[in-house]
Amino acid sequence: MSTATQTEARTAVYPGSFDPLTNGHLDVVRRAARLFDRLIVAVGRNTVKAPLFSVDERVRHLQKTCGTLPNVRINTFSGLLTEAVSDFRAVAVVRGLRAVSDFEVEFQMALMNRELSPECETVFLMPSPEYSYVSSTMIREIARLGGAIDAFVPQPVAEELVRRIGKL
Ligand code: PNS
Repeated sequence: MSTATQTEARTAVYPGSFDPLTNGHLDVVRRAARLFDRLIVAVGRNTVKAPLFSVDERVRHLQKTCGTLPNVRINTFSGLLTEAVSDFRAVAVVRGLRAVSDFEVEFQMALMNRELSPECETVFLMPSPEYSYVSSTMIREIARLGGAIDAFVPQPVAEELVRRIGKL
């Protein structure tokens, strides 16, 4: 983790599996991009056991939906998040908190990351309440069972699923 001075651009990393990218993730990206000079949205490799989309597909979804924001870059990382944070010279990790139920696991992860790397600060952002019940896990299940997911994910993700399974 870099020790940015007042004059240095402040970079944050928003890590996740993004399998699939949801409208809730995009809400967090937009909020974080307003708070930091640069935001790197980093897709973790090997974070989902049976992924719906490959890492390349997920990167493409992010590129299409938020990679065009002027201070947002899309990247991937393998291994420990704390190492990626240091490689990206970031001053903070951004995570979304949808509900109190997210808090326990996120709190544990943030403290563990700080234990692994004492300078690793985590900033939690609350997405709009309309996304509070949307999770990638649920979207994967609904998609696999043939349900409609287009209200919860950005258009490129919905379109790719249509191409793959033939319906929304
Ligand atoms: O979108 P997700 O699945 O909630 O993201 C979880 C992610 C990728 C941020 C987390 O699994 C992670 O950081 N994985 C990298 C491995 C690591 O550093 N593990 C220790 C964190 S306690």
